[in-house]
Amino acid sequence: MDWGMKNRLSRIIKADGKTVMLAVDHGYFLGPTTGLEKPWETIEPLVPYADCLMLTRGMLRSCVPPEVDIPIVLRVSGGTSIVGPELLHEGIIASIEDAIRLNVSGLAFSILVGADYERDTLLAFSEICDMGQEYGIPVLAVTAVGREMVRDAKYLALASRIAAEIGAHMVKTYYCEDFRKVVEGCPVPIVIAGGKKIPEKDALQMAYNAIQEGAIGVDMGRNIFQSSNPQAMIKAVRAVVHENATPDEAYEIFLKEGKE
Ligand code: 5RP
Repeated sequence: MDWGMKNRLSRIIKADGKTVMLAVDHGYFLGPTTGLEKPWETIEPLVPYADCLMLTRGMLRSCVPPEVDIPIVLRVSGGTSIVGPELLHEGIIASIEDAIRLNVSGLAFSILVGADYERDTLLAFSEICDMGQEYGIPVLAVTAVGREMVRDAKYLALASRIAAEIGAHMVKTYYCEDFRKVVEGCPVPIVIAGGKKIPEKDALQMAYNAIQEGAIGVDMGRNIFQSSNPQAMIKAVRAVVHENATPDEAYEIFLKEGKE
């Protein structure tokens, strides 16, 4: 691995080998998602507690001041929407030149294993891996799951392993029962998505379980920015990821921070 690739990876994955990525890319297929209607108002108070931001180039350019010191993982897959007929047929939505211009630390691309257009998304993903390799930019594969697919260990292990085989440097997947099997079958670091908003205590328990079973962190969105107190929630998630806090300890942090 060359110096640039290692340097960028070390901006995403911190010295303790862990990361709290804040996912705020939802608008690329969902439009103005609850909590992200005015993106910077939501994101700004969370920046000091996030290790990096995952978002699209449009949000980055128009909503994030360039002076902000936070590593960026740029979403480069999309082109479909929640209301269109081909949600699971994402393609490449940003060039490597633009990613370099934006000084990003990583690229994120969704692969749709098991969907009708699986092959298209995997071949586009391999192009992104080639580009990332050429310019020393790590690639995060997002194992997106269609409504009709089961988020079990068998499926998520398959999708995660395929991502790593094609060239992902990191994989984002979902927590599931027997999650350790997903981690064991995947030779590159795994972070979990938060998924739909659930009670804070449950989200902290999920993050804790994922870390105990081998994830190196989270790439969490809705369970942070749709929380009743997003800043308290990201602090609590941080404690789980970086300080080995138990779910009860982390929930205490959430409650205490919420009162201040
Ligand atoms: C879709 C995505 C998201 O847009 C997002 O990053 C998911 O984060 P969360 O589930 O924690 O809200 O990756 O595939």
